[in-house]
Amino acid sequence: MKKRSVLIKNRSFLHTTYIPDQLPHRENEITNIVEIITPSLNKNKPSNILVIGKTGTGKTAVLNYIGRELKKEDSTEENCSFLYVNCEIVDNPYGILFNISNQIIKDHNNKIPFTGWSLDKVYDTIINYIESESKIFIIVLDEIDKILQKSGDDIFYFLTTMNEVLTDSKISIIGVTNNTKFIELLSPKIKSRLGEEKVVFPPYDSEQLESILKRRAELAFESGVIEEGVISLCAGMSAKDSGDARKALDLLRVSAEIAERNGDSLITEAHVRSAWNEMEKDAVQEVIRTLPDQSKMVLMSCITAHENKKNVSVITGDVYSVYKDICNSMYTVPLKEKRVTDLISELDMLGIIHARVKSFGRNGRTREIDINVNKDTIEFIKKDELFEPLRKHKPAKQTTLL
Ligand SMILES: Nc1ncnc2c1ncn2[C@@H]1O[C@H](COP(=O)(O)OP(=O)(O)OP(=O)(O)O)[C@@H](O)[C@H]1O
Ligand SMILES: [Mg+2]
Repeated sequence: MKKRSVLIKNRSFLHTTYIPDQLPHRENEITNIVEIITPSLNKNKPSNILVIGKTGTGKTAVLNYIGRELKKEDSTEENCSFLYVNCEIVDNPYGILFNISNQIIKDHNNKIPFTGWSLDKVYDTIINYIESESKIFIIVLDEIDKILQKSGDDIFYFLTTMNEVLTDSKISIIGVTNNTKFIELLSPKIKSRLGEEKVVFPPYDSEQLESILKRRAELAFESGVIEEGVISLCAGMSAKDSGDARKALDLLRVSAEIAERNGDSLITEAHVRSAWNEMEKDAVQEVIRTLPDQSKMVLMSCITAHENKKNVSVITGDVYSVYKDICNSMYTVPLKEKRVTDLISELDMLGIIHARVKSFGRNGRTREIDINVNKDTIEFIKKDELFEPLRKHKPAKQTTLL
């Protein structure tokens, strides 16, 4: 039988999918969006909106909240329907149209198949259904930048020109993104259509995060299990880092989980600091795990060169020489030194290594490189499956690759 937690009363309130009944500190953003979309309740088409804000600033929560409130105002969806599509999950034009249409088409026999139809056929079918409903459809495309990344902007053209062929119904798009550069990536025509209105969500400050966390903690935790100062520490650390409410909530949850694992009956500031370190380590390891192979090889070369020099700073030449050995062992053609230097700069920008430019008089410039991750993370890199051949085969010339 599952042991009952002595600290957490209801874990679901700490889940990122939970939508609170109230969203403090987003009143202005909610009012702005509601004012723009209210005409839909009288069957008038609202402007398209782009919602922009960094990760964890409450965009998804606010849009879901507004959808829920809109349904309360128009419970039979007589005048307007609110559709939500998560483009992180569906990021191709067919998938998006499939998802939208199947929220509209209620009769199972008429639903569009998961694959197999041409895009034109799907498009015509959707238009017919939308038109036959004679109302406004507000379509939220959350994480809209993911579509652009994977499939270009054709689908935006499709959707924003749909109103030209509709007469009794209209659609209105709310695009949501945490990529502040998204709008610059659009062609001018689509930019002006999608961005008829813009609503920007600023990051939360420390006080705002504290009040968000307090409300959530009351729902999620047993009373008296959080030491004083814990919530403001979680809020302060997250505000300083990013103003991201998701990270602040995760920090509180992971702190509680560490306390639980230790069998402690009080969540303390020490748990918060351990939780922070654990989350940072996970985040760095995730960045490393998803690096391109060549960057991983350059990183491995930096680590090996460093170890060969007994952890003293190394220079680009040392790294390049180890890199060529690694390529040799992995039967890979090495990149030119200039390209490896660029990859070193990228690793430096990611904060995984420190690369300081150093002048060597007449010999020109080089970089002095140090490793900026802890032992656990170094072990994690060494265990990457890319380096499996190195574990099996150690050429005579090599010193201490692994
Ligand atoms: N004002 C708020 N009050 C209460 N909880 C909030 C508030 N803002 C955000 N949250 C909570 O923080 C978490 C992250 O919010 P949300 O998912 O809406 O962020 P987002 O802006 O959509 O981020 P991303 O760009 O990464 O998708 C969610 O669990 C959400 O419920
Ligand atoms: Mg979101």
